[in-house]
Amino acid sequence: MTPEAFAAPQRAEAQALPEATARVFIKSFGCQMNVYDATRMADVLAAEGYQETSAPEEADLILLNTCHIRERASEKVFSELGRLAELKAEKAAAGVNMLVAVAGCVAQAEGGEIVRRQPAVDLVVGPQAYHRLPELLRQAARAPGVVDASFPLEDKFEHLPAPAQAKTRSRGPSAFVTVQEGCDKFCSFCVVPYTRGAEASRPPGGVLEEVRQLAAAGVREVTLLGQNVNAYRGVDETGQAWTLGRLIKEVARAPGVMRVRYTTSHPRDMDVDLIEAHRSEPALTPFLHLPVQSGSDRILAAMNRRHTARDYLALVDKVRRARPDIALSSDFIVGFPGETEQDFADTLALIDEVRFASAFSFIYSPRPGTPGALLADPTPVTVKRERLARLQTVLDEQRRAFNAATVGRAVEVLFEKRGRHPGQIAGKSPYMQAVQVEAPAQLIGSSAMVEIVATGSNSLFGRIAAARGKEVID
Ligand code: SAH
Ligand code: SF4
Ligand code: F3S
Repeated sequence: MTPEAFAAPQRAEAQALPEATARVFIKSFGCQMNVYDATRMADVLAAEGYQETSAPEEADLILLNTCHIRERASEKVFSELGRLAELKAEKAAAGVNMLVAVAGCVAQAEGGEIVRRQPAVDLVVGPQAYHRLPELLRQAARAPGVVDASFPLEDKFEHLPAPAQAKTRSRGPSAFVTVQEGCDKFCSFCVVPYTRGAEASRPPGGVLEEVRQLAAAGVREVTLLGQNVNAYRGVDETGQAWTLGRLIKEVARAPGVMRVRYTTSHPRDMDVDLIEAHRSEPALTPFLHLPVQSGSDRILAAMNRRHTARDYLALVDKVRRARPDIALSSDFIVGFPGETEQDFADTLALIDEVRFASAFSFIYSPRPGTPGALLADPTPVTVKRERLARLQTVLDEQRRAFNAATVGRAVEVLFEKRGRHPGQIAGKSPYMQAVQVEAPAQLIGSSAMVEIVATGSNSLFGRIAAARGKEVID
């Protein structure tokens, strides 16, 4: 293939979409914000004539959208790049040039270091610069090793093509919309404030426009995303700053939108508006992911979380008073430097008191450049592993108990895809539980009341009680 062929094809002047002449393989690691960014990068590339492929060996461009949150996440990127370097060399030997691009948080954190460590990388682009991908790819095709890890002044969202115009990715009924980026909290273990920059919120107008476009394309459930989504303070054209609670209410009013979710929240930013929205807004699902990280005040202070265990419990209480059936979820870090058996017992006590419907838990991973990485950490990894196993046993029991309590109830399920077995379709309950039902595939994209009849290890099983959805859409 000639160099012109792998440089991004020019946008056709005619009305019709340009003939797709180049293929891109995108692989995303990390959080939902990365998943969203991957969709938007696909949108940018589709507007340039790139078609997505699921086969890396067929691709003219490979894009790794990376995560830097824990050591293992970053290392995965470099081992993946090693494999891609071999593929690139094989293709070059056959006369085909393939570009390799690294986006996401490792791109932001490591910048030009990536190219030095892995010369097969042609382009490094940070999470705030990917609207510039077409130009950057052209540069990389001319001279490999381009790095853009800047935080540009222009708003990337204003430079992205509308999501509904993307012809290459078929979207299901559930979609992410990033409304807030960055973090000012500086928890002492976390890289996000360094990789994603300072807190910034998108203006509500642009968010609502994107939601309407998605709903017109068949999306029924919108998850509003932010590294600290409940710190949302988007300023409208009159200069007023909206809270997340207000934004949720407007998103719920977009024609076709049946459900609204949001993630991830910091306990310090759970304001009255948002808690009230859980009481008053039927479309806001009764599910809250509210990471606590630890139940020990000593460790919470060392983590710079700026809340105590008691603050967290009081907050949970308030939220439950607004929405008694709310399902709670959290993240936990085990083995933060200096965590004692007593600190760990405090975490187990908090878990016991809250009773979580689901949770993620991790062993602490020191990240270069964060204050936590400078702390002495005498606890052996074997002890940390054993604590993690104990924690996960308790959390798993709570998850099973929460799921078991749904049996015999009718819950609304939004069907997203075909199920695991022929004749089954799969969707989510309002509480974020995966539900499998024997029902026709035409129901995918709409919702129905489902009576839950049994629980499995990872999903619930149910039967249709009544269908809904069509009337909401029309
Ligand atoms: N903004 C969110 C999530 C940040 S990252 C929040 O404030 O909660 C997702 C999760 O990864 C965190 O909640 C934390 O539990 C975990 N995490 C972040 N840094 C980590 C580290 N250095 N080691 C282990 N887990 C970490
Ligand atoms: Fe990281 Fe803390 Fe910010 Fe969450 S709130 S992104 S854990 S620094
Ligand atoms: Fe990972 Fe960046 Fe998300 S570090 S968790 S991809 S914000």
